[in-house]
Amino acid sequence: MKTRTVSDLLSQDIVMPEVEIKGWVRTFRANRFIALNDGSTLNNIQCVVDFENFEEALLKRITTGAAIHVKGLLVESQGKGQKVEIQVQQLKVLGDSDPETYPIQPKKHSFEFLRENAHLRTRTNTFSAVMRLRSALSFAIHKYFNDNGFYYVHTPIITGSDAEGAGEMFRVTSLDAKNPPLNKEGEVDYSKDFFGKETNLTVSGQLEAETYAMSLGKVYTFGPTFRAENSNTSRHLAEFWMIEPEVAFMDLAGNMDLAEDFMKYVLKYILKNNREDLEFLDARLQDEDKTKPQNERSDMSLIEKLNFVTDNNFKRVSYTEAIEILRDCTPNKKKKFKYIINEWGTDLQSEHERFLVEKHFKCPVILFDYPANIKAFYMRLNDDGKTVRAMDILFPGIGEIVGGAQREERLEVLKKKMAAINIPEEELWWYLDLRKFGTAVHAGFGLGFERLVMFATGMSNIRDVIPFPRTPQNAEF
Ligand code: 4AD
Ligand code: MG
Repeated sequence: MKTRTVSDLLSQDIVMPEVEIKGWVRTFRANRFIALNDGSTLNNIQCVVDFENFEEALLKRITTGAAIHVKGLLVESQGKGQKVEIQVQQLKVLGDSDPETYPIQPKKHSFEFLRENAHLRTRTNTFSAVMRLRSALSFAIHKYFNDNGFYYVHTPIITGSDAEGAGEMFRVTSLDAKNPPLNKEGEVDYSKDFFGKETNLTVSGQLEAETYAMSLGKVYTFGPTFRAENSNTSRHLAEFWMIEPEVAFMDLAGNMDLAEDFMKYVLKYILKNNREDLEFLDARLQDEDKTKPQNERSDMSLIEKLNFVTDNNFKRVSYTEAIEILRDCTPNKKKKFKYIINEWGTDLQSEHERFLVEKHFKCPVILFDYPANIKAFYMRLNDDGKTVRAMDILFPGIGEIVGGAQREERLEVLKKKMAAINIPEEELWWYLDLRKFGTAVHAGFGLGFERLVMFATGMSNIRDVIPFPRTPQNAEF
């Protein structure tokens, strides 16, 4: 007899003799009905116990959280809410769970409480649904690229370069903390960090991915990235996952097309394949919405939002046009921002991005052609000499979800840009080589995976869409 999953059993219409299942008890009602969950689906299977046939001592051990092994008959259910149920013939407790101390009780827990119990929170419906969706999105991402002729490249986690030039890196050290090498001034000599070199955890796999695009053509990375920014927001993590495609002979317009097509594909994938989890999260959000004042309620449900994004074109707007719109909304006009934009060249804050997406255009927006001075050194300078072929994609409820660009492919221009911000050529000699030997137009972008999962699940805190969040406050587990 094959051990089955709950998902498998619930999809059977026929009665089956002798089924076998293992899982964790959600509830045990009236000494008779066990709701059993094994993670394969949101739903529990009802296991009906005829208590006269079992020892009382055994039944006492059927508590919330206990792992059990059930054998029995799969029969049509008499009760409401499920088609089938198991008539239990054999019951074994695999792992007890003390009801007095088990943190996940069959009631609503706050997300804050569950974050402190991140090792057990996927035993709840919300978190199991979120993490199943995370897994499905991750699969859809690989599938999209694989179906479209991209190669998956594993770029290094430990690296000597700061791809974003923002200085937000975690150092990697092999130094003996008790007895570190010292320089002439008697300070710790960090240049000896990594067996004699200075290294850090990667902030982005882009530069390395570019080297592969310039030989394999179409590539992508999908891996963990690290940012040592001490920002304590609901959209930032110190460790997050990023998807970074990079394509040779593709310009900024092609990059926008790719990003839009790709994001629509992965969201359509879950709409098609993960309906049950999405519907559950949708209902959860609608319940939550009812507790809010009328003006703060959302005008679309989660599934409506996902359908809206996959069915409509993203709005493409230049930075310059965006600034005009935002200027028009400054004091005494339509909206007051905390941070007022009055000059071309200022970076947008998240309040501006959210305004453009949520209030002005009311759809995802691709902002492009940003001022060169607020963007990374590797972006392709436009003929106007002051803007670069950058693009950011802004999503409702999220703000920036994608950052990308056409890359500077001209050796001399790139060298000048590096010199202007004091990046020594020796540090990126290999990156410059790409511009010396067979250089070509190329472009790519980075999608923050957790921000995508937030959008797809409607979760409002990034800490709730990654299994073990790393933030300035949290690195437990
Ligand atoms: O805009 P960013 O910094 O761009 C890059 O790293 C480029 N090298 C990508 C590329 O062109 N290949 O980051 C890209 C995306 C952001 O739009 C955001 O979604 C996410 O990564 N991101 C973060 N997500 C969570 N926590 C953080 N601290 C994040 N920083 C960036
Ligand atoms: Mg960015």
